[in-house]
Amino acid sequence: MKSDPTLESRINSLIARMSLEQKVGQVIQADIGSVTPEDVRQYHLGSILNGGNSTPTGKYNAPAKEWLKAADAFYAASMAPDGKLPRIPIIWGSDAVHGHNNIVGATLFPHNIGLGAARDPELLRRIGEVTAIEMRTTGLDWTFAPTLAVVRDDRWGRTYEGFGETPEIATSYAAPLIEGLQGKIGDKDWLRGPHIIATAKHFLGDGGTTGGKDQGDTRIAESGLRDLFSPPYLPAIKAGVQSIMVSFSGWNGAKMHGNKSLLNGVVKQRWNFDGFLVGDWNGHGQVAGCTVTSCTQSLVAGLDMYMAPDSWKGLYNSTLTAARDGSLPIDRLDDAVRRILRVKLRAGLFEAGKPSSRPYAGEFERLGSPEHRAVAREAVQKSLVLLKNAGRILPLNASANILIAGDGADNMAKQTGGWTLSWQGTGTVRPDFPNAQTIWEGIAEAVDATGGRATLSPNGSYTTRPDVAIVVFGEDPYAEFQGDRADVGYDDARSLKLLHSLQADGIPTVTVFLSGRPMWVNPFLNASDAFVAAWLPGSEGGGVADLLFGKAQFTGKLPYSWPKTSDQTAVNIGDKGYDPLFAYGFGLSTDEPGDLTTLPEDRAAPAQTDDNILFASGRFGNGRHLLIGAPGALATNPGPDLITAERTDRNAQEDSLRLRWKGGGRAAAAIAQDRSRDLTRQANGDLALELDVKVNVAPTADVSLMMSCGEKCTGGIPLRLTLAEAKKTDKWTRIAIPLSCFAQAGVDLSRVEEPLILVTEGQLDLSISSVRIASPSDKQLSCQ
Ligand code: BGC
Ligand code: BGC
Repeated sequence: MKSDPTLESRINSLIARMSLEQKVGQVIQADIGSVTPEDVRQYHLGSILNGGNSTPTGKYNAPAKEWLKAADAFYAASMAPDGKLPRIPIIWGSDAVHGHNNIVGATLFPHNIGLGAARDPELLRRIGEVTAIEMRTTGLDWTFAPTLAVVRDDRWGRTYEGFGETPEIATSYAAPLIEGLQGKIGDKDWLRGPHIIATAKHFLGDGGTTGGKDQGDTRIAESGLRDLFSPPYLPAIKAGVQSIMVSFSGWNGAKMHGNKSLLNGVVKQRWNFDGFLVGDWNGHGQVAGCTVTSCTQSLVAGLDMYMAPDSWKGLYNSTLTAARDGSLPIDRLDDAVRRILRVKLRAGLFEAGKPSSRPYAGEFERLGSPEHRAVAREAVQKSLVLLKNAGRILPLNASANILIAGDGADNMAKQTGGWTLSWQGTGTVRPDFPNAQTIWEGIAEAVDATGGRATLSPNGSYTTRPDVAIVVFGEDPYAEFQGDRADVGYDDARSLKLLHSLQADGIPTVTVFLSGRPMWVNPFLNASDAFVAAWLPGSEGGGVADLLFGKAQFTGKLPYSWPKTSDQTAVNIGDKGYDPLFAYGFGLSTDEPGDLTTLPEDRAAPAQTDDNILFASGRFGNGRHLLIGAPGALATNPGPDLITAERTDRNAQEDSLRLRWKGGGRAAAAIAQDRSRDLTRQANGDLALELDVKVNVAPTADVSLMMSCGEKCTGGIPLRLTLAEAKKTDKWTRIAIPLSCFAQAGVDLSRVEEPLILVTEGQLDLSISSVRIASPSDKQLSCQ
């Protein structure tokens, strides 16, 4: 951007008056879960963020007014007088990645994958405008969006954060979206009033890592890096984006957080970017030779602000020491501070007053307002992609008798995905979404208005034969590395059975598939008359209904190639021998024939992890997932009455589960799996079910540890005493139960459906870091 001499001289005079401590504080960003306003004052921190799980009250559904209150408190701390030192207002960064998604009641847009299908840059401008205003209501000034990743391997858990597999979509969206968020350079309300500060992320090559591994390494020649991954950054910078987030990933073996030739050389020198480079969540700690609390290498390479969520204090101390002893060049520190001040001044923060006094602050009625939701609904209409429409069954007649089935039909968490009120998008309940409609609710509204009949029946049972069934299912929410997969095969025996039984009854089926990536779904395509890729549509279920009933036309086009086999994980347009099931850009309208020949149903052997690992390092192995609730009514996401499940840390962030039984009635936690497993061979080999647990609160009633091979086919052993013993040590404890115990208790090990069920009616608070089928050990329990 053109340099503004008045602004630059203001920066000069500020820097001349700042203490070294203040300068170091400016370049560090802490997470509100680990920092207080008093810390901000004392350490002169330049910025705070709320990570995906951090809120002002500690509760995932903290009300909007608490956010505004916290924004005021942190601002006041940054402006508190401190002798002669200049006061520098703090900025607060937040992942408003599909609307202001950390806030109850906010408008939730489709995740970027769906927006990519819309191919509508001007829509993105309006989405940016809505998001900025909703952020302003809560006093926040900076979003960590947009993600400009070009995603090359759909195993990546962040595939849905990208707009597509080619640079073209992100390149066409970058400028309008950034202008929607920030306003236009030169306009009076640029970065102010209804606007906020945006971030282009994650620089560079985040979507190109080998195997689609999150935080992995992108191996490609420099020309490939330039042509494939960098194009969206050029219009972003031209449109005035004020911050760029550095990627966790590496390029040819070296982490981006330490890459001077790209951070300094390319972004700052060649592209003349004059805003600041912010790090990713402790990403500096991954640079060779660094730790999260000590890493001048990143600053030297060109990073301007460390994201040091919980490590900020140690990092502050080590960076201050380095600045004092000269091992950190002061010019570089000054340049980083200069860039941060430039953005703060441009955004008018020095004159803006406390957050609650700024435009739109406290106008919470704007969160999820009808006008805002209308934009989101339009985005849904434009983002769904019709893949099959046999006999032109769509659009449906809304005066018919319609069955709405599937576990995604009335499921806000599933339709909104990760980064929704919590990092992983899990643990929420329906009342957390006051301004929203589930897909079922949207359909019911449309059908009611036309005199038809809509019945919700998640398991697909019915009394009056329906004319047609809409079946909604798909991936459970996830974010970042927790969404990484070994292949792209969609395994969901329950939903397939449901489709088959409707088919057997001669009822036409329309599938609405919710997912954060294209997946191999051949058996589901065969069992559906119509098949809609709905991605993660967000709060507006009504938009889905609009398309199904022809109130809007299907226009969405695939932003990612759709795989022909479950192991076709990195199929991208332009590849040699490109042979997807549906090509990039495919998408039917209801005016054209949509029949599809019967597809092969053999799933390629899952390129999978050890099948004996049920849960480890924060991940469920091979199609396993957690269900909790009242026995007989287990779900991913039931209400919090009987039992809750959340993530907790043992060795790494969120690598463990924490289960809390409330004692209000019988409740269970179970590991379910996509298909049953034959464990007879393992049992013959004397293998055991092995759990690593920490008992936080000892059980107050009997506890059973069971396995199940379907209804009326469960058996197990009592566990209360073992857990009570474990509680006494207050340490992580390994518990191993020979598989043969389960056989003795009546389980048919040749068809195990749920390899672990824990049930009690009392209270119990238990952390679990791993569950596996393991070799015998001398510590095994006896069967009792
Ligand atoms: C993610 C970023 C995000 C940041 C702050 C990181 O783990 O990679 O996309 O902006 O956390 O929540
Ligand atoms: C935070 C996210 C962050 C992630 C990185 C989570 O605890 O809430 O914002 O992206 O950690 O690993």
